[in-house]
Amino acid sequence: MTDLRPKRLLGKVVVVTGAARGQGAAEAEALTREGARVIATDVTEAPGCRRLDVTSEKDWAQLAADLRETYGQVHGLVNNAGVTWRARIDDVRPEDMARVHAVNVTGPLLGIQHLVPLMLPGSSIVNVGSSAALTGHYPVAYTASKWALRGLSRTAAMELGPRGIRVNIIHPGFIETDMTASAAPAFREANVRETPLGRTGTVDEIAPLVTFLLSDDASFITGAEIPVDGGLTAHGGAKPISDVLRADA
Ligand code: NAI
Repeated sequence: MTDLRPKRLLGKVVVVTGAARGQGAAEAEALTREGARVIATDVTEAPGCRRLDVTSEKDWAQLAADLRETYGQVHGLVNNAGVTWRARIDDVRPEDMARVHAVNVTGPLLGIQHLVPLMLPGSSIVNVGSSAALTGHYPVAYTASKWALRGLSRTAAMELGPRGIRVNIIHPGFIETDMTASAAPAFREANVRETPLGRTGTVDEIAPLVTFLLSDDASFITGAEIPVDGGLTAHGGAKPISDVLRADA
């Protein structure tokens, strides 16, 4: 059946990082369906993806030069690429902290630095944070990097606002992707237990929010932080208390 709804991103040029799989791939598909010209990028080779390591200034500079030549401007950037590292405080090494920070924080910064000069008023940047950025999650390198990304997002929203460029950060909870598949089963079970909606999320529950934030429907939203986590972070640790008292009643 033909979809007759107006396309919300018609003609907009949008770069998505980490788009070879998982949330990035779903976002690239959803944005394309809304009419965007999506430049899907990833450090790993994948069909339809341009190779871009978010930590490489050279890769960003080349992408910006190519986009300037082909389109003249960019309307959107989704800083989705990210890596985790599940070492705890006792075991994490300085090089782990540096590696995770490079991808999860410096990567988005480089993307902003290289693509903002191509952005006109009305453009939009979406950073992909994590429920770990709202809590004291145990993988310390990952958690610290996602908190840092919150800081980058807020600073960028303030600095780029006068140029009409919006910057927001979304915080997924447990989403079924390769990243979470690599965790122990107990990690998944504990997340489900602490999530009021009682289940994990899917990539197709993240992509619509990214689409919205990139679109003109979100034209007065900047500097926002939006959890997409089934309620995981909203109860602030109160759910086990509520559950145990309900069970006792
Ligand atoms: P994923 O591991 O399936 O996909 C991540 C993608 O990023 C991969 O395609 C990978 O090749 C790419 N990538 C890694 N390093 C890169 C680099 N240096 N340059 C370019 N691309 C690189 O993970 P998923 O779940 O799709 O994660 C997407 C984002 O969502 C990440 O920022 C992650 O931290 C975040 N997130 C994921 C959650 C989950 O439960 N899956 C929860 C909260 C946040």
